[in-house]
Amino acid sequence: MTASPAPDIAIRPLVESDLPAADQIVRLAFGTFIGMPDPQTFMGDVEFVHSRWRVDPGAVVAAEHAGRLIGSNFATNWGSFGFFGPLTVHPEYWERKVAQRLLAPTMEIFREWGSQHLGLYTFAHSPKHMALYQKFGFWPRDLVAILAREVQPTPRDFAASSADSDVAYFSLVAPVRRTELLAECRQLTSAIFDGLDVEREIRSVASQKLGETILVFDNSRLAAFAVCHTGAGTEAGSGVCYVKFAAVRPGAKASDDFARLLDAVEDFARARSASKVTAGVNLARREAFQYMFSRGYRTSMQGVAMETGSADSGYNRAGVYILDDWR
Ligand SMILES: CC(C)(COP(=O)(O)OP(=O)(O)OC[C@H]1O[C@@H](n2cnc3c(N)ncnc32)[C@H](O)[C@@H]1OP(=O)(O)O)[C@@H](O)C(=O)NCCC(=O)NCCS
Repeated sequence: MTASPAPDIAIRPLVESDLPAADQIVRLAFGTFIGMPDPQTFMGDVEFVHSRWRVDPGAVVAAEHAGRLIGSNFATNWGSFGFFGPLTVHPEYWERKVAQRLLAPTMEIFREWGSQHLGLYTFAHSPKHMALYQKFGFWPRDLVAILAREVQPTPRDFAASSADSDVAYFSLVAPVRRTELLAECRQLTSAIFDGLDVEREIRSVASQKLGETILVFDNSRLAAFAVCHTGAGTEAGSGVCYVKFAAVRPGAKASDDFARLLDAVEDFARARSASKVTAGVNLARREAFQYMFSRGYRTSMQGVAMETGSADSGYNRAGVYILDDWR
């Protein structure tokens, strides 16, 4: 089966006035693909089109036909690692090579950034998605579980833990200290995968008030951190605390520090009146997944990571305590 290209498609950067239409197409495309009766309600009050665009407007590619937005793709820069998504095309234009037209300049953006390793999260059951991404050098690797756990509405011991000098919230730290902390976060993630750096996520959560970056220390040395979204209009949605990214310093204490980090994340969720914590984990990170399972987290959704490079490249491997899902 070969798609016939749609004629007269313009590919250009997504601009601010496109955001409402881009958001509608994201919901319509996913809602249609998964067969929702009212596709436009996909994701409820979860939002990421506006907040991701604000992080780097130059990293979002748009497709236009006859003066109308028909698709978009968002690239994310995590230092040496890059991923893209949501990639969506208006259903009226599916199978006309629009996604491929969006992906070509997206790959160019990664080249300009100097990304060493690329990934994406997609539907494991879809031959179309597998074929599309293979054209751009991505190969299916491990499953990715989106985990969820209800948290008790009553603080476990929030007063004690928030007073705990081993836990800090990035947004409450003095501005001068923030620069140092960003460097410490980068140093920690780089110890797992050289050049991995989620500074843009941390800054975005702080400046757009999307949630909080929770920092856990061990004798005043950063041991772990989690970048969390919470509430309507964020990637979490109402009543949810979503761990967009978390990492633990590798070493003998990593498993203990992971447990302390999850304590702090769950306390934060309760403090923000969220009744659920969600987080993605690649199943190659076995210990991280198994610990979360033992802690009561259960898989609510499952996809597959597709990555460039060899089968052991990137940071999805046993022993790594990272939470992310690249959606
Ligand atoms: C996924 C999506 C972005 C693809 O957009 P699109 O414009 O239809 O994709 P394209 O036409 O550029 O490419 C699709 C390719 O897959 C191929 N394909 C489709 N079904 C296939 C199958 N069963 N087996 C193998 N290849 C298949 C098509 O033939 C085409 O390749 P070709 O041009 O060489 O013929 C679009 O369907 C969409 O928005 N879906 C809902 C949201 C979504 O799933 N986003 C991606 C999340 S990771």
